[in-house]
Amino acid sequence: MLQTRRDRVRLPAVTEMASIEQASGSSPARTAADLAARFRERYSAVPRLFRAPGRVNLIGEHTDYNDGFVMPSAIDFYIWVAASPRPDRKLVVHSENFEGTVEIDLDQPNPSARGLWSDYMQGVATVLERSGYRLRGANLLVCGEVPVGAGLSSSAAIEVATAMALLEIAGARMPRAELAQLCRRAENEFVGAHVGIMDPFVSCCGRAGKALMLDCRSLAYTLLPIPDGVSLVICNTMVKHTLASGEYNVRRQECEEGVRLLKGALPHIQALRDVLPGQLDAHRTLLPPAIYKRCRHVIGENARVVAAAGALEKGDLPSFGKYMAESHISLRDDYEVSCAELDAMVELAGQMKSVYGARMTGGGFGGCTVNLVNSAEVTQFQERVADSYRKATGLSPEIFVSGAAEGASEVTL
Ligand code: GLA
Repeated sequence: MLQTRRDRVRLPAVTEMASIEQASGSSPARTAADLAARFRERYSAVPRLFRAPGRVNLIGEHTDYNDGFVMPSAIDFYIWVAASPRPDRKLVVHSENFEGTVEIDLDQPNPSARGLWSDYMQGVATVLERSGYRLRGANLLVCGEVPVGAGLSSSAAIEVATAMALLEIAGARMPRAELAQLCRRAENEFVGAHVGIMDPFVSCCGRAGKALMLDCRSLAYTLLPIPDGVSLVICNTMVKHTLASGEYNVRRQECEEGVRLLKGALPHIQALRDVLPGQLDAHRTLLPPAIYKRCRHVIGENARVVAAAGALEKGDLPSFGKYMAESHISLRDDYEVSCAELDAMVELAGQMKSVYGARMTGGGFGGCTVNLVNSAEVTQFQERVADSYRKATGLSPEIFVSGAAEGASEVTL
């Protein structure tokens, strides 16, 4: 079983990473001004400021690496990177959330991951240089609002914000879809996590108030309005099972095996995206039972994303919620990436009248659920779900309310 190097990265507890803006009630302008002041104190220079958001996925789980469809939104939790150029070819990086300052030499031949938080940043710098961009050295200060280890994609956020900062400092730019692909490469090739395109893509291209339905093969996307009066509520189960990254790679391999076996009858297929539900059933005997279940999840999930997009376009939240519920069941029973705590959180939310839909979100084995909740009843939802989850599991959940947020950008003071 492949283990990603992400396992070796030392991460602080989620509670240490609670949203700075939300906890303090401060605005992005305030956060930016404070970060710039701290940067000036540390490096005696005026920085440029960049930020990239985490994400929550409304529907379309484990479909991105099968060339399928996903529908995430960027969330109001950002990783900020403040940057100013240096005369040499060094990146001096200080993080306010992790220990210490790290130096990265852009001229080091064949750099490799060190098992540090800075690997995400070094990965981006390395892939940019390998792609022909000549970077400038820079002083960097990183500050994070995205809870780490909660499945809200803090890694894509740090990669996107860093890539944007390093490019701008070097006087270069890149189209957003390309930037997302570059960040994915950094995570695949340098950090060693074999993730799909969803997280960096929505961090780059997310829009306020919108869900982003992405075709992960063509990278064509549609922005769908999230109706007024409904809130995205994210419930953190506070558990992260250690098998998550290893099992992620196992699922990927099972999907590849499914494609290989199905090709015997369907030679034209390149990915599970190309298989229709009827075709899967017709050729079921080609597949061992576990592989059949994995394929059934992916193929069914793709169809659900398309149907859910239709429902959202019409503002039909009850139907959207039904697809979310089906998605969770399929992830639990067929893809087998849920866990008792996620199931409990979804079940408790489902008992509340104010909830249109609830499901696990992200890779699974812990992390968060996403809930579409009637905005007028969000506070009651938070209190009741927190209370009953505590009683059911003995764990105190963190429950965030987030708007669908704007993708990465430079922030000017
Ligand atoms: C993780 C990965 C994504 C995606 C999800 C599952 O978040 O980073 O690329 O595969 O799992 O949908």
